[in-house]
Amino acid sequence: SPPAMAQGSVAMPSQAEIQRMLEAARTKYESVTEGKNADYIPALAKVDSKLFGIAVVLANGEVVETGDTNAPFAIESISKVFALSRLIEDKGAADVEKAIGVNATGQPFNSVLAVELNQMNKEHPAGNPLVNAGAITTVALVPARSGAERWDRIKKTMDAFAGRQLSVDEEVYKSETATNTHNRGIAYLLQSYEVIKGDPSEALDIYTRECSVSVTARDLAMMGATLANGGTNPVTHQRIVSPDTASHVLAMMMTGGLYETTGTWVYRVGVPAKSGVGGGILAVVPGKYAIAAFSPPLDKAGNSVRAQRAIESIVQDTSGSLF
Ligand code: DON
Repeated sequence: SPPAMAQGSVAMPSQAEIQRMLEAARTKYESVTEGKNADYIPALAKVDSKLFGIAVVLANGEVVETGDTNAPFAIESISKVFALSRLIEDKGAADVEKAIGVNATGQPFNSVLAVELNQMNKEHPAGNPLVNAGAITTVALVPARSGAERWDRIKKTMDAFAGRQLSVDEEVYKSETATNTHNRGIAYLLQSYEVIKGDPSEALDIYTRECSVSVTARDLAMMGATLANGGTNPVTHQRIVSPDTASHVLAMMMTGGLYETTGTWVYRVGVPAKSGVGGGILAVVPGKYAIAAFSPPLDKAGNSVRAQRAIESIVQDTSGSLF
């Protein structure tokens, strides 16, 4: 018999086979009752906990989906991936590494302690672009002449990744704005360490807005397929970022996409991913496909329980692990 093929040469299953895999995962995990909706943002607490959708978009743009893939939800922390894409594309990977840092913090996503420990240890206080401190810093560094233009550039980047114009969920935005005092603390702490040099409340507001963008699982999978495809949207064929930018963004997702439980994720699943407290998780198998799953109940680290299980099983079924 021929020697086992290297991961990179395993053929993708057919669309019909992927469809069966998605349906099997949904059937298997829809009855999971662990986890609960994010409750520190009032608008997220009341989303239907039963919603569960899984979408795959292949690097050639083909879509396979099952369940609630047209249900809109708040992108939350997954937006950090696209703001980072904007910044790396504008400033280059080396500048971003220097200005924000790229190492995992091992701490929760909104940790003030991580900022303090990094500062004390002469590491970068912002941590990395996928924790709140680094994501607020990312926003502050996006080149623009005004806050309005800065927001516009981030939003248009998200739209281009998705291949359609996304909207802000105003209820989530207001709810989050009214309750984001902890993030406000982080933004001003970063100003005190001269990491954020402009207006911290402006950077925080844009960060809050990007988190409030409404997406479906299908949108998210399309956004991820753009990364899987080296930065070019596979349906619109628009080049959003360079292959080099896409690679650096995926590297960040690999080391910090699920916060303090990223090690467990990479060990079990072996692909870069990013979670959000709205219940979405996006995972990317470079060159092949992206998979997005959405279901609101979260584990203690803030990662959707059903989405993690569904993505793990589908990545295994498709031999998608990079290792
Ligand atoms: O900053 C926050 O708390 C939210 N806007 C986003 C946090 C988030 O999604 C963390 N993810 N797992």
